[in-house]
Amino acid sequence: MKNKNIVLAVSAGIAAYKAVELLRMLMKEEAEVQIVLSANAGEFVTPLTFEALSRKPVYHQLFNLESSADMKHIRIAENADLMLVAPATASTLGKMANGLADDALSNLYLAFKGPVMIAPAMNEGMWRNLAVKENIEKLKSRGVKFIEPEEGELACKTNGPGRLANLDTILERVNSHFKQFHDLHGLRILVTAGPTHEPLDPVRFISNPSSGKMGYAVAEQAKARGAEVVLISGPTHLKPPTGVDFKACKTAGEMNNLVQQCFPQCDVLVMSAAVGDFTAEKLEKEKIKKRGKEGQTLNLVPTKDILMEVSKIKTQQFVVGFAAETQNLIQSALEKLRSKRLDLIVANDISAPGIGFQSDNNQVTLVDSNEQVENLPRMAKQEIANILLDKILSGAREK
Ligand SMILES: Cc1cc2nc3c(=O)[nH]c(=O)nc-3n(C[C@H](O)[C@H](O)[C@H](O)COP(=O)(O)O)c2cc1C
Repeated sequence: MKNKNIVLAVSAGIAAYKAVELLRMLMKEEAEVQIVLSANAGEFVTPLTFEALSRKPVYHQLFNLESSADMKHIRIAENADLMLVAPATASTLGKMANGLADDALSNLYLAFKGPVMIAPAMNEGMWRNLAVKENIEKLKSRGVKFIEPEEGELACKTNGPGRLANLDTILERVNSHFKQFHDLHGLRILVTAGPTHEPLDPVRFISNPSSGKMGYAVAEQAKARGAEVVLISGPTHLKPPTGVDFKACKTAGEMNNLVQQCFPQCDVLVMSAAVGDFTAEKLEKEKIKKRGKEGQTLNLVPTKDILMEVSKIKTQQFVVGFAAETQNLIQSALEKLRSKRLDLIVANDISAPGIGFQSDNNQVTLVDSNEQVENLPRMAKQEIANILLDKILSGAREK
């Protein structure tokens, strides 16, 4: 953890005293630790204790002349490699899940763009409360990692789940987060994302509802794990992850040209874009006019099949395709895998509710080049991205 900037965020639970020991453990690992306290955490452990041990000013007051002038929540967020919330109270979890920002901790969380880990601790009744469960699910679906509480005797003298995870477990999770951090160093990964727009006239186009979230998640996680990343994206509302070489395009033809240019320099291609299969045979120069009740016939021609084009120039690269289908999912995925010389295909049934296009979650099936089929449970696209990157890493190494 040497030179890693960790924000240790402490909220107002009885386990706050354990955060003092956690701070010492992180510092022993040579991490740079910045303490942030929630509004009420100081009721349990004083800022002075944390300040003396961390040897840094503790950030605990949102409205403070010194820290406000410096926009402290923004400054700390800019420099941190990881935000670890331990212990996280039910109240702090609720704020984080719902975008509320009324104290130092919750403001910092909203401003922070990097990885977040949460170790909750609370009474077992609170832990089982549906509102708390829903907040946790929301945060998980956005890629926040949880270090689950343990079962045992709680401060309120009841038994059950809710006790802060063992400090060694928390330390181990933080350690493995940073170990994983640069495991893709040296790999050049090309990712495509989003839909394409195939114009019909100056104002209309054919497209699909792809949000680009899956591809952006792959690009973001690959970058975080040390890869050199090129992201080619069709039109989306997403902000490109920092540090990736971003190339925007609109049509399938433009995307194909960019992929052809970038592919030879890359080790891996993750083709998660939902590329349009058809484009207008003739692009009208003027807006097509509506003529009373008369219909309009559009002649469509197939677009370039980017993965087929790639298969012709593929050498040592590891190529991952996506198959979004509404029927015969595995059969279609297998056909695509074979015909396009893919190393891995990610198949998803886009007719299932709550997953696929637009959603933060997905439920996919992976099929590798040995035609081994692996069904993954429903999970956040960020988590799927990491599983994919694990597979890519071992596959690309074998090549
Ligand atoms: C003695 C005592 C212990 C508490 N322990 C916990 C706890 O372990 N977990 C929790 O979620 N809330 C706990 N609470 C309730 C929180 O302190 C309360 O919800 C508070 O508003 C949370 O503030 P925060 O948003 O600054 O975390 C406790 C309250 C008291 C009085």
